[in-house]
Amino acid sequence: MSLRDQFGKDILLTGWGHSRFGKLTDDTLESLIVQVAGEAIRNSGLDPRDIDEIYLGQFNSGMQPLGFTSSLALQLSADLANVPATRTENACASGSAAFQQGAKAVLAGTARNVLVIGAEKMTDAGADVVGAALLGASYEMAGKASTTGFTGLFAEVARHYDKRYGADIAGPGFEAGLGDVLGSIAAKNHRNGMDNPYAQMHRDFGEEFCRTISEKNPMVAEPLRRTDCSPVSDGAAAVVISTSAGGGATAPVRLAGFGHANDFFPAERRDPTEFAATRASWERALGMAGVGIEDLDFAEVHDCFTIAELVMYEAMGLTPRGEGPRAIKEGWVHKDGRLPVNVSGGLKAKGHPVGATGVSQHVIAAMQLSGTAGDMQLPGARRGAVQNMGGVGIANYVSVLEAV
Ligand code: COA
Repeated sequence: MSLRDQFGKDILLTGWGHSRFGKLTDDTLESLIVQVAGEAIRNSGLDPRDIDEIYLGQFNSGMQPLGFTSSLALQLSADLANVPATRTENACASGSAAFQQGAKAVLAGTARNVLVIGAEKMTDAGADVVGAALLGASYEMAGKASTTGFTGLFAEVARHYDKRYGADIAGPGFEAGLGDVLGSIAAKNHRNGMDNPYAQMHRDFGEEFCRTISEKNPMVAEPLRRTDCSPVSDGAAAVVISTSAGGGATAPVRLAGFGHANDFFPAERRDPTEFAATRASWERALGMAGVGIEDLDFAEVHDCFTIAELVMYEAMGLTPRGEGPRAIKEGWVHKDGRLPVNVSGGLKAKGHPVGATGVSQHVIAAMQLSGTAGDMQLPGARRGAVQNMGGVGIANYVSVLEAV
């Protein structure tokens, strides 16, 4: 049964906005929020006075001396006075937390039109401040003890994965095993990012560079090299969610299903390579949409590190556990493969302004499904999924979107 059958109404994405991602020295958090909020409302065909509620996804956590940011979107227009606005924080999934809260408000009927924004300004602070702030999302002692930031926590997942499945990974073209598989994921996403005008990194590094440790591609935390990591970024994205199309410039896109599941911290899990709650969020979203993974035309997934994209192939059910490398080795997740993954370049090339990421993924998916993705466009895309997570698979969100 679809979301529409279950709740008796359509939940539509009717307009969206997206800033460039990168080191945006001329922008402030406020200017980014106002820019994308204005674009989203304008493109939806609505007026600021039509907005009933606002959700802002932002992690922040000490990266800047600015709290209480929920009201910043009101600076866009005097007509937004008295609109209820709330900030959601769920680490790197803060943007999807805002999106799902907005969708639920529309589903509940307490709002007709909700403005959802995701934003983060990370590059103003030094690397040590950003690293410490991000580690706040790990909570546990392992995180506090990490000397290589969040990269260290995902590197640990990669080492566990290699120990358990590594012997079966090496093969023709992938002689170095897991290192080559992760390098190929990085190369794919950097290649895809070349077509994304919003991406922070327009650099087609190629397979050889991404697979090799060098002065320009040093090891950050064994086995993750620099090209296995998403960059530190500024940026924002916004979307208007409504029950009916507002007569905007682009065709609306339907939310077909959504799922959210939180997990224990990794130290309390039996198997560090199993992202069980991530899998649960996929099952909930696909179940609500009444579709299977084989019914998707593309997926935008949370590749904060290349190992995260690899375990995602398994959590989403594309391959059985331990067989994720097949998806990249056999080209299933390439732009012309059976399930293109991260056609936008993913967090890897597009950038990862933490609170903006989840909303950005929804916007990119909406562009694909309304046929407005420009050079990123996949021909005939009718249904896609978005997956966003906070921490090492701790806060997990999946949305299934489809063309109307
Ligand atoms: N991937 C590829 N290239 C990158 C990069 C990345 N993630 N980050 C920086 N670069 C490039 C820069 O463009 C620059 O290139 P140039 O010398 O040709 O101009 C070069 O590397 C040096 O940039 P710099 O900013 O000094 O790199 P750095 O070593 O300080 O930082 C990382 C690199 C990987 C450590 C940093 O991006 C990082 O910490 N990423 C992870 C962020 C994170 O934890 N996010 C939360 C995830 S849950």
